[in-house]
Amino acid sequence: MGLVEDQVVIVTGAAKGIGKAYCEGLAREGARVIAADLADCSDVASAVEKLGSEAVAVKADVSDAASTENMARVAVERFGRIDALVNNAAFYMAVTHGPMEDVPLDEWDLCFNVNVKGPWLCSRAVVPPMKAQGSGKIVNIASMTVNDGTPGFPHYVASKAAIWGLTRSLAKELGPAGIAVNTLTPDYIPHDEEYAAQQPQVDEIITSKRAFRRTMEPEDMVGTLLYLVSPLSDFVTGQNVWVNGGSGFH
Ligand SMILES: NC(=O)c1ccc[n+]([C@@H]2O[C@H](COP(=O)([O-])OP(=O)(O)OC[C@H]3O[C@@H](n4cnc5c(N)ncnc54)[C@H](O)[C@@H]3O)[C@@H](O)[C@H]2O)c1
Repeated sequence: MGLVEDQVVIVTGAAKGIGKAYCEGLAREGARVIAADLADCSDVASAVEKLGSEAVAVKADVSDAASTENMARVAVERFGRIDALVNNAAFYMAVTHGPMEDVPLDEWDLCFNVNVKGPWLCSRAVVPPMKAQGSGKIVNIASMTVNDGTPGFPHYVASKAAIWGLTRSLAKELGPAGIAVNTLTPDYIPHDEEYAAQQPQVDEIITSKRAFRRTMEPEDMVGTLLYLVSPLSDFVTGQNVWVNGGSGFH
């Protein structure tokens, strides 16, 4: 019996990177997965099936209301319920780095549309079936750049700070309906080789600040994600769990 046996979990931004690791980790513990992304998730769905579970790949734009409603509808039509939503999709790897006055205006809006409005829209889409069930878990993904105040991409950092507030507000509102809402905050994970190659010194600097002095991998996030989705965290809501190898404390 897995930690999340038979649970139906939607993961956004599932096509690659950390989202893909979440899908595989959930499948190993028995969850049925809806892998949602702008990009094609059929490879991820196949990987989940190879692990012995069920999956559906859904094309979804988290910043578009109709698209998020379709994502929730597909989940309910296929599996009859939605136990958890992992709001992982973000505008991140392609973000412009540089002086604050050089952030393109349209990129600021894109960042907030995907990273803040997206988790709100996806939550809005899954809350009706969760309320009908009297249970549900929403996990919003933030970033250690908020605590660090990392310079060079203020639109991204500000969008991730908004996640901390969104989680608290939704946790208070949805708690009486039996729905838990938490934030999971990762540290730097240079899983994208092209991205990491642009700033090779960043991982070294961040690693040197950690209690555990090594590069973080997507798999380092999976155990805590499973905890927040599973019944082990049933009385935990509105919280922010940092997974950073000890680079900072709160
Ligand atoms: N990698 C890191 O260092 C790091 C650190 C802290 C937090 N995070 C957060 O973790 C999460 C995953 O990060 P990652 O490194 O795997 O990101 P990534 O950029 O590798 O992948 C993000 C995924 O989201 C998808 N996506 C983008 N816009 C979308 C939209 N509008 N609708 C649906 N899908 C969309 C992309 O297609 C992509 O598959 C993000 O929320 C990110 O902000 C990452």
